[in-house]
Amino acid sequence: MHNIIIFASGKGSNAAAIIDYLKEKSFASIALIVSNKKDAGVLDIAAKENIPSIVVDKELFHSQEFAQKIQSFNPSLIVLAGFLWKIPEGLVKAFPLKIINIHPALLPEFGGKGMYGHHVHDAVLKADKKESGITIHFVNEIYDSGDIIVQARCKVEEQEDANSLAEKIHHLEHFFFPKTIEFLLKQ
Ligand code: GRF
Repeated sequence: MHNIIIFASGKGSNAAAIIDYLKEKSFASIALIVSNKKDAGVLDIAAKENIPSIVVDKELFHSQEFAQKIQSFNPSLIVLAGFLWKIPEGLVKAFPLKIINIHPALLPEFGGKGMYGHHVHDAVLKADKKESGITIHFVNEIYDSGDIIVQARCKVEEQEDANSLAEKIHHLEHFFFPKTIEFLLKQ
């Protein structure tokens, strides 16, 4: 049985999709959810699903204590599902090819610091792109620049706005993220 740790800052719809998908499988479970926001929706999901969770501040996040806590779960994967802080270098080094992130655009375009949520979709629309999509990639020391594992695309229609694009992107994410996790763990 693989242990997965999810880091998330927001609503947690991706976390929920992963949790639901794994419920019907027996190869992995979510051992811990980490959030940097005490009012994040993902913490309500954790409570409802009886998954242990912790809220971190910057100091704890960069501490040895936190690194040890993560190590103690012996995670096969650390999944960033809408997590807005950069991962400390020590953690990146301790878990090579075991930390993955999902980005709501087709990297390497529209990535980097500050490119999250609607900022990404607004930039895609402003650039008049005809398609967008999702990128699931390994995490390294630089925002949104680790090796790409999977990308999936969607059309950007003439009358598209950031909300409708966000909805399409979430749809792709909820379909592909759990399956990519399964793929990685079963290799
Ligand atoms: C997703 O669109 C993901 O790509 C981005 O943050 C969003 C998180 O959404 N990194 P949710 O909290 O999973 O609903």
